Amino acid sequence: MLERLTSLLPGTMRRKVDPILETLAILREVGNPAAVASMAPSMFRGNVLQLGKRFETADMVSGHAAHFDWTYRSDFPEMRTLYRRAKQQQWDADVALDWSIDVDPENPNRHILPRDFFGEPLIRGGQVRLSAKEEQRLNYDAAAWMLSQFLHGEQGALFAAAQVTESVQWLDGKLYGATQVMDEGRHVETFFRYIDTKLNKLYVINDNLFTIIDALMTDSRWDMKFLGMQIMVEGLALGAFGMLYRVTNEPLLKDLLRYIIQDEARHVHYGVLALREHFTNHITERERREREDWSFEIALLMRNRFMAHEVYEEWFEGLMSRKDWNENVQRSPGMREFRQVMFSRLVPNLRYIGLLSDRMLHHYEQVGLLQYIDGKSAAELSGDQFLWELDHGRSEIDSVNAQLERMATGAHDDGAHDDGDHHAAE
Ligand SMILES: [Fe+2]
Ligand SMILES: [Fe+2]
Repeated sequence: MLERLTSLLPGTMRRKVDPILETLAILREVGNPAAVASMAPSMFRGNVLQLGKRFETADMVSGHAAHFDWTYRSDFPEMRTLYRRAKQQQWDADVALDWSIDVDPENPNRHILPRDFFGEPLIRGGQVRLSAKEEQRLNYDAAAWMLSQFLHGEQGALFAAAQVTESVQWLDGKLYGATQVMDEGRHVETFFRYIDTKLNKLYVINDNLFTIIDALMTDSRWDMKFLGMQIMVEGLALGAFGMLYRVTNEPLLKDLLRYIIQDEARHVHYGVLALREHFTNHITERERREREDWSFEIALLMRNRFMAHEVYEEWFEGLMSRKDWNENVQRSPGMREFRQVMFSRLVPNLRYIGLLSDRMLHHYEQVGLLQYIDGKSAAELSGDQFLWELDHGRSEIDSVNAQLERMATGAHDDGAHDDGDHHAAE
């Protein structure tokens, strides 16, 4: 009904009304009151005021504590090992990548995204007709949009890594964190260089991404910042990078993603080590459940809320409704691939850090995510192994995993049940 009413508004009005309606829809979708309360201020700044779109800069204030340790004792051997590995695996985009590769938007054999990435059927067969040249340009714009969001996410990761490095209680975590800050700086440098010199088009930050980054930067609890950034956003990034790595046939981008994926796998590994220890030994059961609910809600938001509206507004506003566009993108092969890769990484990590207790299994099952629960966590899967999986296709991986699983442990029983105190978001 509301959709029908707003469709009667002129385009400029709709642009103002749609984000507010979508914010309300997100709040409705997030069933958990504590999660709503913690996200509402950021949602107001990101989705309603659209601060990311309206200004070229943003200041986000954080009240976290910087934790000092004057003994310098090594206190977490696995983190120390990761730190050593990170030092050895540093790379320089100037040297490692061949920037002379010509990335030509007009070359039909060197696409960045597959032709049907954002749901070609609707555009080609349905409401809008595009020439071959326009399709080619749309493909490049969609890629520029996606890489721009990666870049904005990397800036968030750079600052979050710096904040978390100050806050964590382990000295080995701080040393490791310093390498992550360097990694994220390099990712910002590399993505921006690719966007600036090869695609020549930078999109503004997506409202939902702004909201998530704002919520993490301003939360003073280091472990929430850490959970949000190291597990959820890095998991999202790893899923998105992995998906793009798998589908693109543009050689420079593929090479660049290979380097970045190896770094990101290490970041998530650090995240799961730290949080498993912290959630097991340093928080109350009530706090653990709060984090469990929060991560479930954020997972759903991430699944449903990256709809490339900036591309829609540029190309299709007035030609098709926002609702049609959303449904089209949601069903598109690119989004399906993205969800598959992202959740296959995210769900095992949540299980590993203790945020997927029996209480939650039913909710994950309801939204179709339980299928990923037996996958490998970041502590069990290196960047190289993840890349191998991406290179060799999922069906092969699944059958090998299933075979190994059968040989090692025999049948597995989940025993899902629910104590009924959680709001399913879908
Ligand atoms: Fe990164
Ligand atoms: Fe990262």
